[in-house]
Amino acid sequence: MRVDAGLAAPDDQPGAGQLDYRIFRRFVGYVRPHWRHLTLALVLLAVLSVVQVVQPWLVKEAIDGPIRAGDLLELRLWVIAYVATLIAEAILRYLQIVALQGTGQRVLRDLRTEVFAHITERPMAFFDRNPVGRLITRVTSDVEALNELFNQGVMAVLGDLFKMVLIAAVMLYMAPALSLVAFGAVPLLLALTFFFRARIRKVSRRVRLLLSRLNVFLAESLAGMEVTQLFAREERELRRFREASRTYRDAELRGVALESLFSALVEYAGVLLTAGLLWFAGGRILAGAMTFGALVAFIDYMRRFFEPLRDLSTKYAVLQTAMASAERVFAVLDDQCALPQEKRVTPREPLRGRVEFDHVSFAYRPEEPVIRDISFVLEAGERVAIVGATGSGKSTLIRLLARLYDVDRGAIRIDGIDIRDLDPATVRAALGVVTQEVFLFTGNIGDNIALGAPLEDPDPASAAARAAELVGLNRFLEERPGGMEAPVWESGANLSAGERQLITFARALARDPRILILDEATASVDPATEQSIQVAIHELLAGRTAIVVAHRLSTVREVDRILVLHHGALVEIGTHDELIAAGGIYHRLHRLHFNDGDRNAGAESRPSAAGADAASAPTSDSASAPGRGIQP
Ligand SMILES: Nc1ncnc2c1ncn2[C@@H]1O[C@H](COP(=O)(O)OP(=O)(O)O)[C@@H](O)[C@H]1O
Ligand SMILES: [Mg+2]
Repeated sequence: MRVDAGLAAPDDQPGAGQLDYRIFRRFVGYVRPHWRHLTLALVLLAVLSVVQVVQPWLVKEAIDGPIRAGDLLELRLWVIAYVATLIAEAILRYLQIVALQGTGQRVLRDLRTEVFAHITERPMAFFDRNPVGRLITRVTSDVEALNELFNQGVMAVLGDLFKMVLIAAVMLYMAPALSLVAFGAVPLLLALTFFFRARIRKVSRRVRLLLSRLNVFLAESLAGMEVTQLFAREERELRRFREASRTYRDAELRGVALESLFSALVEYAGVLLTAGLLWFAGGRILAGAMTFGALVAFIDYMRRFFEPLRDLSTKYAVLQTAMASAERVFAVLDDQCALPQEKRVTPREPLRGRVEFDHVSFAYRPEEPVIRDISFVLEAGERVAIVGATGSGKSTLIRLLARLYDVDRGAIRIDGIDIRDLDPATVRAALGVVTQEVFLFTGNIGDNIALGAPLEDPDPASAAARAAELVGLNRFLEERPGGMEAPVWESGANLSAGERQLITFARALARDPRILILDEATASVDPATEQSIQVAIHELLAGRTAIVVAHRLSTVREVDRILVLHHGALVEIGTHDELIAAGGIYHRLHRLHFNDGDRNAGAESRPSAAGADAASAPTSDSASAPGRGIQP
């Protein structure tokens, strides 16, 4: 996975606002399975609204009845009734929120899981395009923001509408003329909302974008902390963070300013309206056309009627953010980037491991070819080494074989079957790959090895134990408290590079693969350990097709043939002796290696010192007799 700033990434800017309704409908699809909870929440909401609407009415009755008549005893009854509705309101509100969140959180869990599942099914090309930090934002905070789409969207709108209709009915019943005056303010408020809507939405999108960038930056910065500190780049990182953080703050503040302005304007309109009504209604009371209790109740109703409208500003802002998040989450779900699978061939018998590259070309990015027209055949059980300078495409060749990427031209076949016709899982089940970049999961050593065991293995732990023994990991495990259970910290921080490499080595063997691939597998182990690994390899290669990638020629041992890559092209192929005799690139690499590398300086092509320091210059004799000791 690539971790970079991904700054101008196009999918950070999803389409325009017309999508609202479609997004909303799509979201409703996720709510539907939880309709029981939703119904409960809705019923509670309806009852709650009724209780709330009853309250001002009780006040009106108390004022116009017992208070006016001076009947204390009756007043007491009204007060008790009023308190009862308050208690009922509190209980209902509690239950309603619990039911609502019960629905919302269930929806979120479904969605989160779906997004994660979708991401894990993507091929590596997807991760080249989507930096880790961005994907983390999608699965966590973007999905979380969707909860608001539910709360502020579905539920709040339904609840508010219901309450407003109830209140409007009561108001019209109490004082029709006055009500019409009050409702005259509604279009004004809607106009205000409409005016601010577009602006708030734009800002909230920008806020999300900047937050996502901040996350991307953080993910990278924290992952690279060792390098940052080693090169004393804390200052620089801090400066970059400050910059990103400031841009984010500015965007947030703009959003806050817009929202505050909106909400203040709406509030102001409400105040003006109340003042106007007081004037208007006061006259009617003096004329005897309205009771005093009715005015009190009316003002209370009006406040309750406009409350949802006033909150509309905040709700709208939250809803906009949620919509933006929804767009992004759905954009991830809609990214169907996948390895094409036209016809699917299920091999009748287990793959034997004959590998064929047939005029294979590949580029990560168009116009930048990495693999150029490569053809070769490995018979089942054959061992080859791939040699070439850094960046010549060795690891890429392996990724293509594992179907992490598909070839652009040509074909790769295993046992004569084009791997594009095979389920990627089938291909990978046949491969045991020790990748160049070691990755360990948090947990313990045993689990990290066992994850290499075949899926159908009923006892991965003992497969892991066998594999650990084969690679000579026991020596290390015995010294470590806990042995196989010894903890592995995040990315294996508590293990040495060599130990980590041995673990990945065991992991690849735990599946007893037909094709074993070692991508610079011994690059970070000391000569003594390498020696013991070589012994293990020697045992393990028997009967398997093996591809050993090495830029250190000293690791090229026990192979039948050597493939030499140069700028993505296969330039030489043959045994060590043949290639030396040919006097080409391999010959040159070999000479460079042993001139620069060690005490065999001066030896032209084939140093003769054998045995004595096999650990430091293992190539010296074994590579000169490829396959020695392995061939039956
Ligand atoms: N995920 C990727 N996206 C784009 N380019 C890549 C990617 N991985 C590798 N490359 C490029 O492909 C070339 C070959 O890389 P690689 O196969 O890793 O070389 P090697 O393993 O021989 O050192 C390099 O130039 C590298 O920059
Ligand atoms: Mg490589």
